Amino acid sequence: MSTIPVPAGIPVFDGDPFSMEALADPIGFDSKVRELGPVVYISRYDYYAITQWADIQKGLRDWRRISSASRPFYEPNPYRPTVLVLEDPPSHTQNKGAAMAVLSGENLVRFEEYFAAEAERLVNEILANGPAEIDAFHDLSVKYVLKVFPDMLGLPEEGRELLLKFGDGVFNVFGPETEFQKQKLAGAALAQDWVERNTYREVQKEGSVGWQLYQLADQGKLPEEDARQILKSIFGAGFDTTTASIASMIRALADNPAEWEKLKANPDLVDNAWEESIRYYPASRFGGRYAKEAVEVGEHTIPQGANILMMWLGSGRDHRKYDAPDTYLVDRDLTGGHLSFGFGIHTCAGNLVARLEARVLLRELVKRIDTIELTGEPRQAMNYQAFGHEYVPVRLTPRP
Ligand code: HEM
Repeated sequence: MSTIPVPAGIPVFDGDPFSMEALADPIGFDSKVRELGPVVYISRYDYYAITQWADIQKGLRDWRRISSASRPFYEPNPYRPTVLVLEDPPSHTQNKGAAMAVLSGENLVRFEEYFAAEAERLVNEILANGPAEIDAFHDLSVKYVLKVFPDMLGLPEEGRELLLKFGDGVFNVFGPETEFQKQKLAGAALAQDWVERNTYREVQKEGSVGWQLYQLADQGKLPEEDARQILKSIFGAGFDTTTASIASMIRALADNPAEWEKLKANPDLVDNAWEESIRYYPASRFGGRYAKEAVEVGEHTIPQGANILMMWLGSGRDHRKYDAPDTYLVDRDLTGGHLSFGFGIHTCAGNLVARLEARVLLRELVKRIDTIELTGEPRQAMNYQAFGHEYVPVRLTPRP
């Protein structure tokens, strides 16, 4: 328990957001916390949760007072990145510039062409014998993502599946030390060597994303070690997120056949359908922060020195922001945006790549598939910080 007194009026919550019960239903759990108030003191871990859409967005803009350079569960750990997500300006500005330089622009044009060809090849393979019963997580999402993006990163074929184990470690670092966490980190330890080996300058293929980062280091735009750490951040953040969220999207479409019909009738809705999918099933649950100064949230003040969690998963279901937030609508008006990629200076560095991967695949599915039906009970993954599905059994029936 903190020595800083909890200001009067802030609800004190003694539930555990990292309990197995909460991890089994984080949308339900975080929505309940959101309705306790815009800021809630989580007594068990001594942090303040900011829970509602508008306050999270405002707080994410306020990086001068709400720092990323210290966070709840900040103890050193080999899976914890040392750049970007745990930095404030000025070092963050330099590293974010480098990350965005290699995850946007001309590279995306090259990626799009490749992603589209591979999406077509994979869907052909799946539908080769007519209707197919598959697990949309392993047989579609993982197969596609672990092919297309590692190829663009110039990674070897062998060992790629370790990226998922590594990501699983990265996304379970920020939570309490429990048997559950120990198991997750033991899985990631198996991937550690492979990940480290593939971040060094000598193994980067000419023209690849890693090679480009080291070129930026050669031009004096960032330190050599930061180039390596940015690459490691991409390995850590770029796979669990996209595989889980594409599987979640398939689940949402299978659960809502009328929405699938809308998409088939109007394929221009593909981009919006993907945004709605990650509003509805965000791949990231929260981000940690630290109050360098006292911060007002509505009529409350979070004291200086407090740990903060920005609980953006629950914000996707905030009825103050969205009408009928628990309804999945591919044509929902999302011009006001969502917070599933974060907001402000730490907005996801890979958001353009993630969006491209998902949209290209969905476009191909809309072109080729008549119906998506669940053939069993989908399973959601258990994770402190990430959210998504790890098993989505479906029957895909091709268009006549
Ligand atoms: C659907 C997929 C994804 C989702 C939902 C997602 C979500 C997020 C969120 C919410 C943040 C903000 C964290 C914070 O403010 O504390 C973030 C940051 C980040 N993401 Fe993603 N992400 C996805 C895919 C990716 C991919 C594909 C990559 C790499 C290619 C990536 C790399 C990063 C990096 C490096 C950061 C740190 C950025 C910074 O601190 O400035 N992400 N992501």
